Amino acid sequence: MENKIVVGNIKMNLISLMEKENYVKRLNKSIEENDFFGTHIIICPQSVHLENFTQNITQKENVFIGSQNTFWEDKGSFTGEISPALLSSMGVNYSIIGHSERREYFGETDEMINLKIKAAFRNNIDPIFCFGETREERDSGKTQEIIARQIKKALEGISRVDLLKVIFAYEPVWAIGGSTTPTSDEIMEIKILVRKILTDMKEFGEEYANKIKILYGGSVNRKNVEEVCTKPQMDGVLVGRESLVPYDFFEIIKQIENK
Ligand code: PGA
Repeated sequence: MENKIVVGNIKMNLISLMEKENYVKRLNKSIEENDFFGTHIIICPQSVHLENFTQNITQKENVFIGSQNTFWEDKGSFTGEISPALLSSMGVNYSIIGHSERREYFGETDEMINLKIKAAFRNNIDPIFCFGETREERDSGKTQEIIARQIKKALEGISRVDLLKVIFAYEPVWAIGGSTTPTSDEIMEIKILVRKILTDMKEFGEEYANKIKILYGGSVNRKNVEEVCTKPQMDGVLVGRESLVPYDFFEIIKQIENK
């Protein structure tokens, strides 16, 4: 069986020292109590917590630490940025790139996302590449066009071998942090669309397009995980809010693992 992937995006949460320490304790308890060998679990805390997490999260072969962002240069005068080379040397294996909150609040463009994906690969970090349409784009029938643009630009100059290391995360912006989610049919349509976009890109083609991993993200919880992940046969989920309580997060993993 192919490995499923569950990503926990903690975002800018776990603010006090106590909150963070409790989280690590509870997360470790869940990791130690459960064996999920079919599922890769990737925890993405705030950057300032990364070192602490890489050192204190219980080590298991299927548990990984990821960053929520990375810069496109490895080193230098880039005040406030996060070096992918440093992430890599700290034991961070994955990085979320292109999250809609970064696109919206920090002006990240498709070109920047492309540079970040390349920087991640240069440093042996696998990108969790987020893409998806806003409510207005969906309502005006632009979903396919927007997603095609996001994917094509993000993957410019990426090799076939590296393509297979990209974890695609379909995150419709209108479903993030809310209560509405797309139906399983709608998610399935996007999965087919992504494969078609990659098939049509001459540098990739059908064989590679069919091998990529695609997750769903946006208001995932233990009640809707079947509808948004198992039914549309996604490779896993990217979880925001529900990853803040390790017990709840692991309830989602359990459901995915048991399918
Ligand atoms: P959410 O966040 O699960 O809180 O909707 C998902 C995300 O933004 O990655």
